[in-house]
Amino acid sequence: MSHAARRAQHVSVDATRLLSRLDRFAQIGATPRGGVNRQALTEGDREARALLAHLGHERGFAVRQDAAANLFLRREGTDASLAPLLLGSHLDTQPTGGRFDGALGVLAGLEVLETLEDAGVSTPRAVELVAWTNEEGSRFSPGAMGSRAFADETLPESWLDARAPDGARFSDELAKTLRVLPDVPVAPLGRPIASYLELHIEQGPILEREGLPIGVVSGIQGTRWLEVTLEGASAHAGTTPLAFRRDPMMAAAVALAALQTAVMEQDEDARLTVGRIEAQPGSINAIPERVCFTLDLRHPRRERLNEIDALVRAVCAREAEQARCTVQVRVLNDMEPSAFPEPMLALAEAACTKAGLPHRRIVSGAFHDALFLARKAPALMLFTPCRDGISHNEAEYAEPQFCVSGATALLETALAVLHSLEI
Ligand code: GLV
Ligand code: MN
Ligand code: MN
Repeated sequence: MSHAARRAQHVSVDATRLLSRLDRFAQIGATPRGGVNRQALTEGDREARALLAHLGHERGFAVRQDAAANLFLRREGTDASLAPLLLGSHLDTQPTGGRFDGALGVLAGLEVLETLEDAGVSTPRAVELVAWTNEEGSRFSPGAMGSRAFADETLPESWLDARAPDGARFSDELAKTLRVLPDVPVAPLGRPIASYLELHIEQGPILEREGLPIGVVSGIQGTRWLEVTLEGASAHAGTTPLAFRRDPMMAAAVALAALQTAVMEQDEDARLTVGRIEAQPGSINAIPERVCFTLDLRHPRRERLNEIDALVRAVCAREAEQARCTVQVRVLNDMEPSAFPEPMLALAEAACTKAGLPHRRIVSGAFHDALFLARKAPALMLFTPCRDGISHNEAEYAEPQFCVSGATALLETALAVLHSLEI
């Protein structure tokens, strides 16, 4: 048995430290209703990053960032030539987000690094923690920008001009965020990693319903984000009879009602969500000239996602024509369904069993940074239960015991992966 694995028999995470850190980070961007608003590249996000960098420096970990503002804390191994094991998740949240989506994975990863440090476990390869930039995608589209840029080793030009609903430009906010940590060197984007692990709350009801502390994530369903723009003609609300109207809002309303029936009611695996809709000029007594809405489409099967995409386009074109409007559809985000490698699943299952943590396999309905890391190295995710499956909501809650068992599962899986990489 390897040195690391032999010593590991006696290491366990510090529950008090982990839980107090979760509370501390939840204060940054805390909302009156108990949630967190710490959207990507805002003041709150910068404050959370600064706190994480501070915690890393305090423990003597090497702290680095990259051009996408991903933030890395590195606990050195004995052989600097070996690619590191990377653990991570994100610190940004939804506008009305919860305390655990992202933060749990980052702080559990930090807990793993600190537990190894406390116990003096030496590992041949470094173990690193990363907080990825803009996983949520709610302020700047697409989501998972940081992990995608790391995996592809480039920051696409097309993102630089992306605008937040508040008008801020991505490239400006990124530069400002990098400047907040002047003592943290900026490393090149992307480099070899040996493996990637991410802990996250399930964001759904399955583990809680089945009374299981751990989900071993077998794969992630596909996501596609579309932006539909319908254009008609602005006119007086009181004087314009039906036959004279070119009303994009009516076209949108009819199209969305038709899609509601045609997509989710016909296919229980499909998801279709309209999270944003805007009318211009947005006057109560004028027919809008332009209506723009987003569609978040999800499905575990790529072909079905394509079919739903085609249906959306056909229905919107039909209703636009009916209302004598024009329509344009833009793809904002396209994430293929993916599966994690079987050997990684088996390692995690054995590690959880060894730690006495009951588990099951589960498919992720949400996308995650691990989707992009899986392009670079064997990757895996672990889920913990959250109350009533509620997430992307200020009421999101994960029992302390499940946060701790999640961190334990992450530690045990990390040790198992390190061991498997050594032999
Ligand atoms: C991630 O936040 C998702 O929307 O799945
Ligand atoms: Mn998340
Ligand atoms: Mn999220």
